[in-house]
Amino acid sequence: MKVFEEKRIVLGVTGSIAAYKIVYLASKLTQSGALVDVILTESAAKLVSPLTFSSVTGRRAYIDQDLWQVDDHVLHIELGEENQAFLIAPATANTIAKLANGLADNLLTVSALASRTKLLVAPAMDGGMYSHPATQENLQILEKRGVRLLGPAAGHLASGISGKGRMLESDQLLGHLRVFLGKDGVLKGKKVVVTAGGTQEPIDPVRVISNKSSGKQGFALAQAAMDQGAEVVLISSPVCLSPPVGVLKIDGTTAEQMSAAVLKETENADLLIMAAAIADYKPAQEKNHKIKKDQGGLSIINLETTPDILGELAQRKKPVGIGPRLTIGFAAETENLQENASLKLKIKELDLIVANDISRKDSGFGSDKNQVTLIWKDGRIEELPLMEKSEVSDIIIHEASKLIESI
Ligand code: CTP
Repeated sequence: MKVFEEKRIVLGVTGSIAAYKIVYLASKLTQSGALVDVILTESAAKLVSPLTFSSVTGRRAYIDQDLWQVDDHVLHIELGEENQAFLIAPATANTIAKLANGLADNLLTVSALASRTKLLVAPAMDGGMYSHPATQENLQILEKRGVRLLGPAAGHLASGISGKGRMLESDQLLGHLRVFLGKDGVLKGKKVVVTAGGTQEPIDPVRVISNKSSGKQGFALAQAAMDQGAEVVLISSPVCLSPPVGVLKIDGTTAEQMSAAVLKETENADLLIMAAAIADYKPAQEKNHKIKKDQGGLSIINLETTPDILGELAQRKKPVGIGPRLTIGFAAETENLQENASLKLKIKELDLIVANDISRKDSGFGSDKNQVTLIWKDGRIEELPLMEKSEVSDIIIHEASKLIESI
């Protein structure tokens, strides 16, 4: 997660029981290269010790007494000014009320008042406290002032009731931080459409023809584009992955659904990345009842070809110029990688093709890693080593942004 490397993040923790969950976030951020300065309120320190936070961040975790240390009398100014993001999570109704009124009676609120970056606030409290008019008005004041409110979500609350007031999970908060830190990236103002997963072509109400694509590479590409500030639309078949925070996810279960969504979403797009493995064939007719095994009905399935989406896009682009400004395709090959991929690049009129050898056991379908070769339309070829799909995605997005700049 390059987006966090060397970034200084202030993490304000207040006295909600959700405080214990934020230790995971502090740890994840640190593992991703961030320098995390935790500030605990007095009540937060009763729930989770500063030592817990300093143990996972490798940095001092601050408490109110630190405000009055002789050598740290401007600590709040330093914490407030020297950061790239300031997140308060969990934020209690009490701290929200203080922020709304500009109160600065502890190290966290005084640092928040001194902060030059916009505050991110993740409320956490019981349902009744959240819906109380006082809290609602305070939240509105904060929102009007430009504070980004993250959640809360609805669900189980510590009091035992179910309602709105649950802090967003740490992974969601991590996603929001990525959106915040990436907002001024090189793809700011650009629309990027990514396809992911393997399409499913129905045989009958329970069976489909599909392939081994996990969607991991496509989802990682969507995240990498988000990290660079793009507006991202992710068109995916059903896969077991959560879409990155901030991405608009659209269902593309069958090749036809994917085709319709891609054609619509790319009309005004700057970049299309076709990472989806689209079935080349589908059953000519979907049975409307479950085919029973004792009827021997599956011995023959008549197949017909699905639309070639990249081919259709190239056709549409020619006469009227509608379509993505830049198109990147994938080529999943088991032999003659470069020759086959280069041919696809030409036929499908792509700007760049990402070729991968899917016969390798340690890379490609289902794996977290991928070994790809990039082939540009000007003939340049670059073979990348085996790496995490997230790293492959960062490289592809970096190359794509260079191409977008050049047109
Ligand atoms: N693709 C597409 N529409 C299809 C099939 C594939 O737009 N019906 C796109 C894929 O998303 C990928 C590229 O075309 O970006 C190449 O896909 P691939 O499956 O490698 O090649 P095919 O064109 O299907 O050819 P073959 O299966 O014969 O290798």
